[in-house]
Amino acid sequence: MPKIVEQGTNREIPASDIPAYLKNHGVHYEFWPVDPAPASLRQKSGLALDEQDAILNAFKSDLERLSKQFGYISHDLIVLNPESTPNLEQLLKNFERVHRHTEDEVRFIVDGEGIFTLTRNGDTFSVTVTAGDLISVPAGTEHYFTLTETRNVKAIRLFQTKEGWVALYKDEDETAHASR
Ligand SMILES: [Fe+2]
Repeated sequence: MPKIVEQGTNREIPASDIPAYLKNHGVHYEFWPVDPAPASLRQKSGLALDEQDAILNAFKSDLERLSKQFGYISHDLIVLNPESTPNLEQLLKNFERVHRHTEDEVRFIVDGEGIFTLTRNGDTFSVTVTAGDLISVPAGTEHYFTLTETRNVKAIRLFQTKEGWVALYKDEDETAHASR
């Protein structure tokens, strides 16, 4: 279950209220146990392509179900940590800029953790997601993403279009292609 804190009031949403809170703010959330993927792969800092495929395959049935339900046509695995991501701090600078997308930003956390900060229905709140959390930031939602101090996340990303992920930054009046 993610941790949710409202910005401004700094109010933490009680765990029992989180499913309703996300639903009321139009955010799709699911929890998938991560055990289908071997811990040795989940916890490895750098992954070869066949190891990435092994992780994706472990969640095949849920990925297929979700893709059918929401029209996702592709997915991949993103690995962010200081050992395997040399430009991590630069990437994070981009992720931390408030932006929105024309498609949902769907992430399933396989390992590690990250924080999405979203503005929905006039509320700005941060959602700290950890292994097993699947979150969908709805298209058009102003948001940004950052890592926690552990600087480690592995996440499956699902995409609705062939163009993939385009970020529209709030501080720029232009379309920029974010690093994938
Ligand atoms: Fe985004």
